[in-house]
Amino acid sequence: MVELRLPKNSKIGIGKVFYASSQAKNIKKFRIYRWSPDDNKNPVIDTYEVDLDKIGPMVLDALIHIKNEIDPTLSFRRSCREGVCGSCAMNINGLNTLACSKHINEYEGDIAIYPLPHMPVIKDLIPDLNGPYAQLREIDPWLKADTPPPPDKERLQSIEERKKLDGLYECILCFCCSTSCPSYWWNGDQYLGPSVLLAAMRWVADSRDEYKGERLDELEDSMRLYACRTIMNCTQTCPKGLNPAHAIAELKRLQIERKL
Ligand code: SF4
Ligand code: SF4
Ligand code: FES
Repeated sequence: MVELRLPKNSKIGIGKVFYASSQAKNIKKFRIYRWSPDDNKNPVIDTYEVDLDKIGPMVLDALIHIKNEIDPTLSFRRSCREGVCGSCAMNINGLNTLACSKHINEYEGDIAIYPLPHMPVIKDLIPDLNGPYAQLREIDPWLKADTPPPPDKERLQSIEERKKLDGLYECILCFCCSTSCPSYWWNGDQYLGPSVLLAAMRWVADSRDEYKGERLDELEDSMRLYACRTIMNCTQTCPKGLNPAHAIAELKRLQIERKL
């Protein structure tokens, strides 16, 4: 019989329980993944009882309350609290999403919070995103044009040209989609993943960009683009309601179209 060994740090233990005060009437339990590189131990799930009467309505409000009032060692990223910066991306009750954009009352029962899946963890809920950011740099995510802009005005687009960017420019690079994608889990060193491919499509679709052909050349690769198997997890999870799977399909369509 084959013996399967779990990778180091993959066994998750039961951690501490932080009880609410006996006066609390409106308690919700948050079960949170905890791991620190400093103590050489496997991760654990700590349980925090939070008095909902003392905090704001969002999951991020609970995390901030836990850090400020219950356990200052808990680590997570956040900045805007408005679903704009993408830094509070994490896995809440099995779905990658933004903690600042999720109401606590959307969840029945306890709330389980883990870091974005299949990424190296720096600490607790903080994933190491250096890999996806390096991949983003590979696609040159800026306007590339050799023609000088008209003097004293910006490069103009028609209303129709501008509309082609809808559904693409709104991406906040939270990486919820890439970290929900099985192809990216298994081949993240070669496959660019839905976040980066949606960003690539954003520049391919831009009428002002003069490097569309070169951009498509760069993606013409069995792994970088074609490792997408149209599983659609990416589109299902995107907290901004975008459709990275469609952007990837468009890139594939353009690849074929230019060969006809
Ligand atoms: S559609 Fe492609 S990118 Fe999206 S989850 Fe599936 S394989 Fe990943
Ligand atoms: S497409 Fe959606 S899930 Fe993916 S990085 Fe952009 S905003 Fe996040
Ligand atoms: S804190 Fe900026 S998106 Fe959540």
